[in-house]
Order: sequence, then C-alpha cells, then structure tokens
Amino acid sequence: MCGIFGCFLKNENAAPVIHSSLKRLEYRGYDSVGIATISEGTLFIKKGQGKIDIVHKDLNLDDLPGNFGIGHTRWATHGAPLQINSHPHSDCTDKITVVHNGIIENFNDLKIELQNLGHTFVSKTDTEVIPHLIEEIIKNKPALSLANAVQEATKRLEGSYAIAVISSYEPDKIVCARNESPLVLGISNNGIYCASDIPAFLPLTNKVVMINDGELVILTTDGYQIKKLQDGSTLERAPERVEWSAEMAVKHGYPHFMIKEIHEQSEVLRNTMRLQDRYLDLMSTFLDRATEIFLVACGTSYHACLAASYMFSKLAFLPTYPVYASEFIEQYGKAVNIDSTILAVSQSGETADTIAAVATAQQRAATILSLTNTIGSTLTRISRVYIGTQAGPEIGVAATKTFTSQLSVLAQLALRLAKKRGKVSQSEIDVLDAQLEKLPDLVDTIVKTQEEKVKQIVHKYANSKVIFFLGRGISTATAFEARLKLMEIAYIPSVAFPAGESKHGPISLIEQGTPVVFVCQKDDTHKTVIGNIMEMKARGAKILAIIEEDDNEIKPLVDDYLEVPKNIPSVLSPIPYVVPLQLLAYYMALEFNYDPDMPRNLAKSVTVK
Ligand code: M6R
Repeated sequence: MCGIFGCFLKNENAAPVIHSSLKRLEYRGYDSVGIATISEGTLFIKKGQGKIDIVHKDLNLDDLPGNFGIGHTRWATHGAPLQINSHPHSDCTDKITVVHNGIIENFNDLKIELQNLGHTFVSKTDTEVIPHLIEEIIKNKPALSLANAVQEATKRLEGSYAIAVISSYEPDKIVCARNESPLVLGISNNGIYCASDIPAFLPLTNKVVMINDGELVILTTDGYQIKKLQDGSTLERAPERVEWSAEMAVKHGYPHFMIKEIHEQSEVLRNTMRLQDRYLDLMSTFLDRATEIFLVACGTSYHACLAASYMFSKLAFLPTYPVYASEFIEQYGKAVNIDSTILAVSQSGETADTIAAVATAQQRAATILSLTNTIGSTLTRISRVYIGTQAGPEIGVAATKTFTSQLSVLAQLALRLAKKRGKVSQSEIDVLDAQLEKLPDLVDTIVKTQEEKVKQIVHKYANSKVIFFLGRGISTATAFEARLKLMEIAYIPSVAFPAGESKHGPISLIEQGTPVVFVCQKDDTHKTVIGNIMEMKARGAKILAIIEEDDNEIKPLVDDYLEVPKNIPSVLSPIPYVVPLQLLAYYMALEFNYDPDMPRNLAKSVTVK
C-alpha cells in the first residue's frame, strides 16, 4: 500500500507540491520516498530511504526544477526498504520513469524476458519491469505515443497497479493507469493532480475525478483525458465535489481507522492471494522438513498462530505448537535446538517479546521463519525466510486487517504443506483453493450485510459485567480474538474458552442475562456446540451466535445471531467469522464514546518486554 502522486501545475514548480502531497500520503507507508520532474526536456530524480522528512533533510526534495512530475512514498513489498528499491524506477536509458502502487504478480517472468532482451535491472522490486517494458515497446515501435506504449505495457501486467509515468520522450504529459489499486484526479485552477487518495491534494482542491479499473489517464497542461486500457476509446467524466475535511479524507470518510481497516479486509485478502509461489513453497519446504515447529507470537498474532495450528494439523497432518512469545523462553527456551523451527508471526515485526523469543531460539541454532506486515523490520532481518502479509499500514491499535491477512497466508502455507505431504486429495485441495479465492468477496458481503445488524443489537450487550466468547475446534481461536478485540477497545471484562472447557469452571460465572457469544461454524463440532448453547441457556445466559446463513438449528435457540455465508470450510472459517465480531467490538466501543483507534494503556507496537 504505497502512495503515488503526480501534478501538472500552471505557474509554479511541481517538486514542493509533490513533496507536501506525499507527506499527506505518508499514512500509506514511509519506507522510502522519491520524486521525479521534467524541466526543459530533461528528467530529474531524487529518492532515498526512510521517512520523507529525513530524506528531504538530506536531499532537499523541493529544488527539483519543472512544473510537472511524479512522486512516491513506499510501503515495501518486493525488495527491502532501501534506497535502491525506492521509486521512481527508470528504464535502461533513464528516459522513462514510473511510480507504482500495487503488486505485479508476473514480474519475475517479465524480468527474465526483459533481461534476455538485454535490459539491466538495478532493484529487487516488481515495479522496475514497467519502465523496461515501456522502453522495449517504444524501441520496437518508435512511432507509438507514450500513452499508447503504457497502454500496451499494461496488457502484459498481471496483478494490481496504479502507475504514473513520465518520460523525456514526451516532456509534456503524465500518463497514469489503474487496475485494482486506487487512483483519483484532483482539478484546481492552478493545476491538475493524480494521486492514490484524495487527502494528497485536498488542501489544493476538492474537485475530484475517480478513475476506475482498466482506465488510462493523460494529464497535460490543458487538462485530462481518460481512455479505456482495453481499446483506447475515450471516456468523458466530469469532476465531482467532495465535502470531506482533511482528517476525514485520511480515513476515507470513515470516523475511525479501525472501521476503515475492517472494510479494507476484502482488498487486503485479495492482495494476500498474490504472494509469490516461490516464497510460499520455500517456507512450506522448511516447515515440511522440520522436526518440531513452534508458532510464536503475541496478542492477535498469537490467535492467528492458534488458528494455524488447527490448519496445519487438519490439512497437512503436521503438529505445531502455538506459544505466547512472552512465555517461549521460560517454556521452551532450553528445549529448542538445531532441529527446532520457529515460525514467528508479528504485524509490526518489532514486538519485543517475539524478537526475544526468536533471538533465543536463533542462539540455539533453530531455524527462524516469519510472517510480518513490515518488511525491513527486525523480524525480517533475523529470519531465514519471511513472508510479507500484504495488509498495508494498519493505524488502528486494534489489529483487524493484519489478523485476517495473517490467517490467509497461514492457510495458503497449510494447503501447500498438505499437497507436499500428500495428506489431502487433490480434489479437496482444489475446493479449498477455490474457497480461499472467494473469501475476499465473502468478507465484503459480511461487512455489507452484518454492519447494520451489529449496530442494532450492540446496545443489548453493552452494559454487561462480563461477556463470554466460546467456540470449538478452530473457532476457539476466533473466540479468543473476539474477546481480545472487545476487551482492548470497549474495556468490558471478557472471558474466552474452548466451549468444551467452559463447564470445567468458567460456567460458574453465568448468571441470568450474562451474554455468551458462540462462534458456530458448520463442521463436525456443530452438534456439540448446540449442546454447549443449551447448557448456557439453562443457566440464564443471553446468547449471541455467529452462524452460517440459514442455520435453522441454531437460530431458534439464541437471542441474536449474525450470519456469514454458507459452505465455508472449517479450516478457513476464522477469516469470515471474526469479521462480525470485529464490528461488534468497534460498535461496542462507540456505545461508550471510547476512541477505538487509541485504546488506553496500549501501543500499536509493543517494544518493551
Ligand atoms: O505487531 P505484533 O503483531 O507482534 O503485535 C502483537 C500484539 O501486540 C498485537 O496483536 C496486539 O495484541 C493488538 N493490539 C491486538 O489488537
């Protein structure tokens, strides 16, 4: 989730405007920054690693000449957050330069093809194939315009992109194109802007033109032209006015980052499906060879590990041990050795307990693998293999989209392991793969259909002394995560247990009206969960169930229910089933006027032990 920006100004230098606009996009990532402008037919570029202010202090981004240019603030996915990987990326002749937000899935094939044609690559990014592809097209068809060359290049790209291209071949235009990554234009009396997001130019104009997937835009001093990428036909689209404040714009009109991030989950899940096969294969090979595997993490990431232990066991017949990172050294520190494998999971990649656990295991020669949302973090630096979870920066302290993205990557690993180990039939794997592909749309449906329902029922559960969360099998992890969400932002004491365990003690807390939330996926545990619901009802509990749509066995037994679509395989169920519970926690916090983005006593990244 990087930020791109470009502008064509009538009477001023573009670089200071690009610089300040990129600052307003920094929430999309700040691993590196770069600006390119064109003046008197010559292309100028400045770029560097780190936050915009730091790079600006070193390089003075504002003194680039020219009244138009493009810029980029990076959130690393392909290639570490280094100077060499910062955008813009250029072709071999340094005449074409590109900024990009998204993931080019087939970049490796394209890179090999272009290298065989003599192109030299300097970065490890997926983006760099784009300028080389345009260069190659122009080399073969010199009569082609820059816009047509970009259009032709996009036909070779698989994946997601919003790109802005400038070239000294045609030093009077910016060419943009979009597929699945956001792109919007801003129109003012002083100039025209293209950006990943409205906040970039909101202080300059509130007149916007939304660009859709499959469209190309040409910005010139005279205005903008929109064309279809497929056939080059021209589209007419007038600007609209947005009435957002700057603060609302960063949150995309949502009142809080948390709810924005809940809504972003379908897009994030789509991105997790674009991971490169070779990293998933490499990590699953390490896991397959391991003698013992510890899944190590804190908080929400630990819940992803807990869910993963069910996935690995059920699909790959592979036992793994989920462990709280803060307990790992005491519990297993002396027992790990060269035969141990640690799969550490951390959104930030900086959590002190996770890093300490991993460091201890590393000293004892264990193999370190990791999943993290932050490429370049400490965890990536000490791991033998790591995979980025593709969620984009998460600002809300309560983890939401990073949790579901972790689950998606872990499920993909489990499926690969299942295949490698030959434990599950190919037809079953095909069904699971297909369901995983459908999850982004299903999550979207859940948010759309259940959000209003959550708003309507939340007051019934607000004034509770304690709330229970129960699930069986893999839903135990969902129940644990739902409890953590509710506790951390709505400050309601909550209890989560495997449903079967509840009668071994916790049930003594149940009084008339105590809320119990059951996670009831439709699998082998369904009948037993119904038994557990009856036990709770018999003691006066008020039941809210998360059920499969039209689960007519459970509906009549409970006080309220929230539904998720049918036929979701049990091993994938935490991804959709947690969504209504994230919404529940969010709207519960609003019931009390708490700020869900900044819960008391908490920090986004816990860097102390
Ligand atoms: O960055 P990490 O994933 O390592 O963070 C772990 C926990 O601190 C984190 O999940 C925390 O529990 C969140 N606030 C949960 O919403």
